[in-house]
Order: sequence, then C-alpha cells, then structure tokens
Amino acid sequence: MNNSFDSSLNGFDYKTIEAIAKYILDRTKHRPKLGIICGSGLGGIAEQLDKSDVFPYESIPNFPKSTVVGHSGCLVIGNLKGMPTVCMKGRFHNYEGYPLWLCAMPVRVMKLLGINTLIVTNAAGAINPSFNVGDLMIIKDHINIPGFAGNNPLRGKNEDQWGTRFPAINRAYNPELIKMVKGCVADLKLTSFVREGVYCMLGGPSFETVAEIRALHVMGADAVGMSTVHEVIYARHCNIKVIGISLITNKCVSDWDSKEEANHEENIAVGKKRAKDMESLVQHVAEKLNTGA
Ligand code: HPA
Repeated sequence: MNNSFDSSLNGFDYKTIEAIAKYILDRTKHRPKLGIICGSGLGGIAEQLDKSDVFPYESIPNFPKSTVVGHSGCLVIGNLKGMPTVCMKGRFHNYEGYPLWLCAMPVRVMKLLGINTLIVTNAAGAINPSFNVGDLMIIKDHINIPGFAGNNPLRGKNEDQWGTRFPAINRAYNPELIKMVKGCVADLKLTSFVREGVYCMLGGPSFETVAEIRALHVMGADAVGMSTVHEVIYARHCNIKVIGISLITNKCVSDWDSKEEANHEENIAVGKKRAKDMESLVQHVAEKLNTGA
C-alpha cells in the first residue's frame, strides 16, 4: 500500500485512510458502530468483546507502533454487550515522537469502519484537590495546551470529506451522552467515586512542575494527562459523538515542600485496581447505546 503522506495536508490523505479501513473490513465480519480507546492500564475493556477479531498494530498498513509500557497495541473488533465495537488497545502519544495527526489518525480509520460514537478513556492526574486516587471523572470539557502553541492535529490543509476547516469544539463531550453515562453510574452504584470535570492535555513525557499544576488549576483544569484531546478533535471534526472518562491514578503535586513524585508504574498499578469499575461502566454504556435506552 502506498504511504501517501502529503506535507501540505499534514497527514495521510482520505484515500490512504480508506485503504486502511478496507484492509480491516476485508478481514472481519463485524461492522462496528462504537469505538473505544483504552487508556493506560485499561486494555481490559477490549477483552470484554465477544467473537473478536484482533489486529496487532504492526499488521495494519500505515499504522504506527505503540511503544509505551502498559499499552499493548492492537485493534480489537467484536461485540460489547451486543454492540458492534472496535477497541484501540493502546494508543499513540505525541511524546513517543509521533505527530498529533498520526496519533489521532486511527479515529478517522474508525470513522470509515462505521462508528458514530467514540468512548475515550485515559489515566490522569488529579488537579482538583477534592478528587481521590481511584476516582473516575466523566470529562465535560478539555483544555488543549499543545493547541495554544499551534500544535493541533487539524493543522495543515483541510480535507472537506472529513469536516469543516474550523470545527466547533464546545459541546465536544456530548451533553446528552454525559447524562446517559451518569444514569449508568447510578445504575451500577458507582456514584461515590465518579466525578465530572475538565481534562487538560500536556505533551509530556515529563510530568508537571508544581508551578505548572498551580497554573492549570487557576485555568480551570480538574485533571491532567498526555493524550485524548487530539483524538477528540479528530472525532468531532468528522462528526463522531464523544464520551470521555478519566481514571484518576495520582494526585498532582501542588506544594513546593512536598517530597512526592509522579510515577508511571504507580499509575498502572492504580489503573489495575479500578479498571474493573471502568470496564463495567463502559460495558453498561455500550449496552445502552445499543438498545437506545
Ligand atoms: N500528569 C500527566 N499525565 C498523567 C498523570 C499526571 O499526573 N497521571 C497520569 N497521567
């Protein structure tokens, strides 16, 4: 397959994405309607899919490889509580050296596989002092810090097949779906540790300084991480509805006298503990989306 990188486009052209989607659709009978991106330590969601077909990223033409511990890389396509679903088990990050458009590119592949709704999950550090390690946060909005400096996945020539040059990103996290997710939280009796808040993306891989955490707090961020926002921008650009859920794996250090340090291994360990609740929630959401309830 030709790798049609076009520098003015700042990404693969529509035809290249079509060819990737065709490669996958030719090798599975499933026709997914829901996409899920599994965050650090949350790959267990993909294991809940029935009758799944698994595509390691290295087997898919033009897919990057995921290089992060805790993110094994494959697309898993099957049924989640009856809902035809494609899961990205492992995602791509800017800090791995991939440009944002390439990190977000699989969202366009999922669009051409047929999805109309995307659930993005991630591990995040708490900035809001009332949040606890192990909380889940329904994302109600985001702050795109790389975007402040012009690093946006949509930078470059726009391809109108995907969407408009200047997409609106307010209401990116679908308000009706947020209500539905809250209903699922209540059904599963998870309310005591589920919050709602603003997710802020930084490029990483270094964690934040104390001064940065204080600045983000003043800006209105409740949690911080190194992913998600570029995927959501790509999804909204091509009119995919978005639900976002963060797992709070650590509290960010906001005190200069503190001896604590953020640590990726610890984040993965916390992820394992609460991952089951995240899995149940995502399953229940998939069931509701499938039945239209
Ligand atoms: N900062 C940035 N990214 C993260 C954190 C954090 O504290 N925790 C998990 N991902």
